[in-house]
Amino acid sequence: MQESLKKMWSGRFSGESSELLEEFNASIDFDKNLYREDIAGSKAHAKMLGACGILKPEEAATIVAGLDAVLAQIEEGKFEFKTADEDIHMAVEKRLSELIGSELGGRLHTARSRNDQVALDFRLYVLRQDEQIARQIREFIATLTSLAGAHLDTLMPGYTHLQHAQPVSLAYHLLAYAFMFKRDFERFISSHERNNLCPLGSAALAGTPHPIRRELVAQELNFAGITQNAMDSVSDRDFALEILFNISVLMTHASRLCEELILWSSQEFGFVTISDAYSTGSSIMPQKKNPDVAELIRGKTGRVNGNLIALLTTMKGLPLAYNKDMQEDKEGVFDSVRTATSSLAILNAMMKEAKFNEQNMLAATKKGHLSATDLADYLVRKKNVPFRTAHFITGKAVAHAESLGVDLSELNAAQLKSVDENLDENAVKFLNLHASKEARTSAGGTANASVRKQIKQLESWLAKSGD
Ligand code: ARG
Repeated sequence: MQESLKKMWSGRFSGESSELLEEFNASIDFDKNLYREDIAGSKAHAKMLGACGILKPEEAATIVAGLDAVLAQIEEGKFEFKTADEDIHMAVEKRLSELIGSELGGRLHTARSRNDQVALDFRLYVLRQDEQIARQIREFIATLTSLAGAHLDTLMPGYTHLQHAQPVSLAYHLLAYAFMFKRDFERFISSHERNNLCPLGSAALAGTPHPIRRELVAQELNFAGITQNAMDSVSDRDFALEILFNISVLMTHASRLCEELILWSSQEFGFVTISDAYSTGSSIMPQKKNPDVAELIRGKTGRVNGNLIALLTTMKGLPLAYNKDMQEDKEGVFDSVRTATSSLAILNAMMKEAKFNEQNMLAATKKGHLSATDLADYLVRKKNVPFRTAHFITGKAVAHAESLGVDLSELNAAQLKSVDENLDENAVKFLNLHASKEARTSAGGTANASVRKQIKQLESWLAKSGD
């Protein structure tokens, strides 16, 4: 066999690989996505080998310059990724050897293995994405918080079981999402902190006899420290599972918001108009305007959940340490990251341009007797009526309103009084829907005083959490 066509690991082989094997075994098609991390890791490794006297300083410098040249070739589109190179690690090393000679290029892999190399590359990638997604979530929280500021007095029905329940402000409803996304942000940040440790130097599984200094590589790559057990470092993928889980929860929150945008933009609700820029038409029905973006985000939540379950399942039966099964870890993560980043970008843009139809929201609050709880509370607090009795009397008032074909909030003093003598003229003001919202001043409630505090909290968090 021609020397240049040989596999790097072919020393103990006498026969050639089958084409089927080559195709099936290769990961270059997708792990080429890790070229930046792979080259950064190799440069840090070469510098460390130089600093520890394992390579001569000028050898390390030549390798680093060679790796920079490989990087430039990839970024300029001058690098052909070949299936025969198997994966990004071997492709980069092979090109390095072509550029600086195989005598020196072949020294780069001293004191490391592809097992710790891939663990490093993938971890660097995941850490970068943790930060990127957290940044996008923060931007979206800023959008929701500023929308909330504009809608303190936009009254709408709050729901349980998708039935009108109690009046709330649109600000309050939007802030519920802002706090969900804040927890998502925190999950990405805490995953980042936990996993910010360098695995390189773990070698195949048991460490190396070469006098390496792992901390130097960690410092060069801006890690907070090094991992503590080589076998763990090359064999676990919990950092990848964490980003998949974090994305699943994030997308679940986004999906619920999108579900509401879909409902709210329907003729039945008419609460929101999604801008033309983020709507689509029908090929047959000329009048249609569809909320495809929101539907796609809701739909894509299924695939990110699939990616999470796939990797959990891949990992669950693996003996320590590295197994090739783990090559299956990457595509799902790349897919989930792409899905989350594109979904967040368009969701943020769409929300900024959405028009909330305040009149329709207000009209909806007048259906469903939203002030019934307020009336019962009035009987308890001002008339000392036991809550169960108050509940019963209020139920009768609701039935009376229905018999008159009006909402409970529209009953006048005489009509109320005819239901029960405890429902005196003071009771009328408790039927007012704005008053109902404003009465809920408890911490975390929907009254403006409480909502303003929530907005303040988010604003000061936004100011602190910026880069
Ligand atoms: N392409 C491999 C992966 O993604 C790199 C590690 C290969 N290690 C090995 N011992 N074959 O997992």
